[in-house]
Amino acid sequence: MHIFLDTANIDQIRQAARLGIISGVTTNPSLLSKEATSDYETVTKTICSIIGGPVSVEVLAEDAESMIEEARLKASWAPNVNIKIPITADGLQAMTVLSKENIKVNMTLCFSVNQALLSALAGATYVSPFVGRLDDIGHDGMQLVKDIIDVYKNYPHLSTQVIAASLRHPLHCIAAAKAGAHIATVPYNVLMQMIQHPLTDIGIKRFLADWKSVSK
Ligand code: E4P
Repeated sequence: MHIFLDTANIDQIRQAARLGIISGVTTNPSLLSKEATSDYETVTKTICSIIGGPVSVEVLAEDAESMIEEARLKASWAPNVNIKIPITADGLQAMTVLSKENIKVNMTLCFSVNQALLSALAGATYVSPFVGRLDDIGHDGMQLVKDIIDVYKNYPHLSTQVIAASLRHPLHCIAAAKAGAHIATVPYNVLMQMIQHPLTDIGIKRFLADWKSVSK
């Protein structure tokens, strides 16, 4: 399973990139709106210069024609920009046109297996089931990831990759990996939680204390 960073924060992206384990970045309008600047073109270009892998940028237009125009513009910002399009009838229509132009699309706001199936049929590079938001309303978000992966396995010609999104804690990441998600997109704080273990910290302290006790 690859790890993408789910943020538009440049400092977090720089720090995570140094770890050498981040293959891409996902942003969305809410994440971008948290940043100090509204110059999203510059923010996107900066992210794309730090992370060589796919960087998802969402369209804000709602009708197919405007989505296509906006997607073409945003895809021109950097070679590794991927376009995020919500799964609606207009979104699928836009997706179909964009895939023929070799623009990679991440179909987002996926809350059902049917939406994931239709996205794959339209030629999506990625589909993003939102685990946490389903959990929030009392559904089992990770079950959706499992179901999508099971259905895709039945049709090996479908090449759409599943991005487990809206992940809120490290257990989500483990469950996504067990389910066989191709990618988990994780907020920076969750990435840090994935690294940490109290026994690792205690172990380091103990090793250093033992070392110091004999090297006086
Ligand atoms: C990523 O592609 C999604 O936009 C993001 O994971 C959504 O997360 P949230 O549900 O915590 O806002």
